[in-house]
Amino acid sequence: MLRKKQMNKINNIGVLTSGGDSPGMNAAIRAVVRAAIYYDVKVTGILRGYEGLINNDFVDMDRKSVANIIQRGGTILKTARSDAFKTTEGRSLAYQNLKAQNIDALVVIGGDGTFTGANIFSKEFNFPIIGLPGTIDNDLVGTDFTIGYDSAINTVVDAVDKIRDTAESHDRLFIVEVMGRDSGLIALRSGIGVGAEAIMIPEANMNVDDILHKLDHSRKDKSSKIIIIAEGDDAGGAFKVGEVLQEKYPQYDTKISVLGHIQRGGKPTCMDRVLASRFGVAAVEGLLNGEKGVMVGQINREITFTPFDHAIKHIDAEKVSSTWLKLIDILSF
Ligand code: F6P
Repeated sequence: MLRKKQMNKINNIGVLTSGGDSPGMNAAIRAVVRAAIYYDVKVTGILRGYEGLINNDFVDMDRKSVANIIQRGGTILKTARSDAFKTTEGRSLAYQNLKAQNIDALVVIGGDGTFTGANIFSKEFNFPIIGLPGTIDNDLVGTDFTIGYDSAINTVVDAVDKIRDTAESHDRLFIVEVMGRDSGLIALRSGIGVGAEAIMIPEANMNVDDILHKLDHSRKDKSSKIIIIAEGDDAGGAFKVGEVLQEKYPQYDTKISVLGHIQRGGKPTCMDRVLASRFGVAAVEGLLNGEKGVMVGQINREITFTPFDHAIKHIDAEKVSSTWLKLIDILSF
């Protein structure tokens, strides 16, 4: 058939989604399933991430089970954050269940928590695993973009454009909180995209006085002001910053908007669908060519494989360089 001569024999690939869902996860599942079938490999779905491995929640996947899902947000395999998988007992149960199902390799789709678990498990049992970066946070090293990031920032831009209309009509200052517990990358790009007057992100170490200074120096002819703050910023979230600003800046009628989980749902953008499709095929081909313990990524349009140890490092100086922060200052001046 179409299957190449494999370096290591893989007859059955398990696929799961884990951690916070992200738009495009379904497109990634579809690509993994279709690529496995193309190479004549069986593919088994695992429900609710690592919880499904431990609880024996397996489903056979075929071409039809992934039909008509490329455009859907969420994940048809469901997802969870598993505490049991953090224990040695949980992981050895998962390994026994995988063996009983004759699954020889895994594709895990998720973020840093997912890859931390995969890294430990693959070393503990010498089990081949490849990760696909599926998180709206874009906070993984070894890929320019993660699956879901583009959709999430477009959701933010859409929401904040609406907020700008009303802010402008009422001459108001809005503090908009976006997701990103450990990372300000959603705030950074969406902030540029909406023409924010300032952004507050964990990586930039900015306090409320810095924001006041920026507001003083931003365009005077623009009666509305938008500050985008990442959920994980040290200043403590939109409500806390709002209180201080209202006190120090009484001339502004300050309003707060927390966008929350709408950023995680909805149709994936075409960018995310294509990225997920490419990653899914690369993961299957990578496994068949002997890759393991790595995350698939795309850097400068090329497919890359980065060891889990490195991918979960969080800090990517390029992604949060001062050049990006300066861009906001220049554009709101
Ligand atoms: O990691 C993805 C993410 O959406 C973060 O941006 C956010 O901080 C976190 O998950 C929220 O997680 P939960 O849905 O479990 O509250």
